[in-house]
Amino acid sequence: MTIYKVGVVGAGLMGAGIAQTCAQSGYDVVVREINQQLLDKGLARIYGAWEMMASKGKLTHGQVDENRTRIRGTLDITELAECDLVIEAVIENMEEKLRLFPVLDHTLKPDALILSNTSSLNITQMGAVTKRQDKICGLHFFNPAPVMQLVEVVQTISTSQETIETVKQFAISLGKKPVLAKDTAGFIVNFLLIPYLLAAIRMLENGMATRDDIDAAMKLGCGYPMGPFTLLDYVGLDTTMWAAEAIYEEYKDPLYAPPPLLRRMVISGMYGRKSGKGFYDYQ
Ligand code: CAA
Repeated sequence: MTIYKVGVVGAGLMGAGIAQTCAQSGYDVVVREINQQLLDKGLARIYGAWEMMASKGKLTHGQVDENRTRIRGTLDITELAECDLVIEAVIENMEEKLRLFPVLDHTLKPDALILSNTSSLNITQMGAVTKRQDKICGLHFFNPAPVMQLVEVVQTISTSQETIETVKQFAISLGKKPVLAKDTAGFIVNFLLIPYLLAAIRMLENGMATRDDIDAAMKLGCGYPMGPFTLLDYVGLDTTMWAAEAIYEEYKDPLYAPPPLLRRMVISGMYGRKSGKGFYDYQ
């Protein structure tokens, strides 16, 4: 199957990054949001990234203009009808996804693929509310989506091999390295990353070391690009908590239980960079 037109549902941090990646790789992209304010914010993030790339000489102004013509924002989900492949990147909440998937199934042409960018929710369950379970799989990007090379292609027990091959080729066409994972909570990366991030929070809670020393230790001692608290703020504390809860729900392994401090920070609206405050202050 050849992909020409891509739909992205959700223009938040991940949705905007995914739409940007697809448009700058030559695809026509329709991005759908639920209100104008969120749509404008997402499009502004994308245009800003292209301007930044142009200022660094990575894109010409002509290429920026060309990219902009390939991307279209909408509030109307029926405008996704002609897409060959749609990636959902809405909030990490199963009820929201279960509301969206039947609508997409009804709206899209019968052979279109529906991919979820979920970081840890059950994709089999999302596919089960559609009549095209063989055409549903995960395509999990990493933040910042235009920069990080990896994508996880997640196969449910119903995803056809043809869908997997098409999605792998699509990922390669975006300049990404696809890895194949089964539909189990956390897939590959979050199954390994979440316990590390939660352990750092527990160390802080227990007074074993300071935030800055833990960050410096992992950055300078292990060569990680960011220490765990910088990364938590970057990924989003809310996103991390939802991922941890989803994996905990599946395995009931205490390694994945969100520590009290994380819960309280999320309840207080301290989501990290996106809210201006997390483990660090960005105001
Ligand atoms: N579009 C295009 N280019 C972008 C961009 C965007 N939206 N955002 C950043 N860049 C480019 C910058 O222009 C820069 O390019 P040059 O090197 O050519 O100048 C490059 O990316 C690096 O950015 P910066 O110079 O601003 O900063 P940096 O060198 O410190 O790198 C980083 C930033 C890439 C984020 C790096 O710190 C890093 O790799 N951090 C770890 C990120 C990570 O682990 N992500 C995965 C999180 S887990 C997840 O996402 C999954 C989940 O489900 C929770």
